[in-house]
Amino acid sequence: MIDIHTHILPGIDDGAVDEEQAVRMAQAAEQEGISTLIATPHHANGKYSNPGAHIRQDVDTLNHLLEARGVGVKVLAGQEVRLNRELLEDLQAGGTIGLHDTPYLLLELPSSDVPAYAEEMIHELRLLNRIPIIAHPERNAVLAADPDKLARLIEVGALSQLTSHSVNGAFGRKLQKLCLDWCAQGLAQFISSDAHNLENRAFGLKQSYSLIAQECGATMAAYLSDNAHRLLHQEEIKFLAAPQGRRKQWWKIW
Ligand SMILES: [Fe+2]
Repeated sequence: MIDIHTHILPGIDDGAVDEEQAVRMAQAAEQEGISTLIATPHHANGKYSNPGAHIRQDVDTLNHLLEARGVGVKVLAGQEVRLNRELLEDLQAGGTIGLHDTPYLLLELPSSDVPAYAEEMIHELRLLNRIPIIAHPERNAVLAADPDKLARLIEVGALSQLTSHSVNGAFGRKLQKLCLDWCAQGLAQFISSDAHNLENRAFGLKQSYSLIAQECGATMAAYLSDNAHRLLHQEEIKFLAAPQGRRKQWWKIW
């Protein structure tokens, strides 16, 4: 399995506190059957600033440490960038980076609203051949209350990544149901852990895929898992179901 959203890099955001914790997280990932982790430290969220060059350096250091400790997990550089008005300039300057330097960009929205310029930013990113993946939209109050708004962001050109803990029910039954509904409604293209630690925010990816296979079918689980592979190889992400919120809408698959 490939996990496209993790906070495993030690000491640079609210994820792994130190190298020992990062090694333990990687060991847990390996035990679960995860072979590749994309490290996605927070960036430009008002609290943490982690430019691409620093992340790549920290990823190299961690990979050397994991190799020395015999952990069979490969860490790749990525970033979880908060939607901000300087995003395009920062991207140009190299501060903001894609997942494993692919065109796919992990984009975090504020938790309580969707800024009015979000659609325009997604459109601008697509014009630059960048593909934003909205991190855990199910945890955004506006999108959770109105999936039509998420369908609209996907229609404009974004993709969507659900968090394994939301799928697994750790964040409540209501959110779990929402996630399973969204899978069926074409409102999810990826599942990832957003792992921060081993205490209350670990991986749970295997459990998520099993649950989705059980509730939404094996084809859906395989689709979500395959998309993580496709991302790493810079392949196009197709839609298994036409994205739709509550209302039915025309949808063009590009
Ligand atoms: Fe995250």
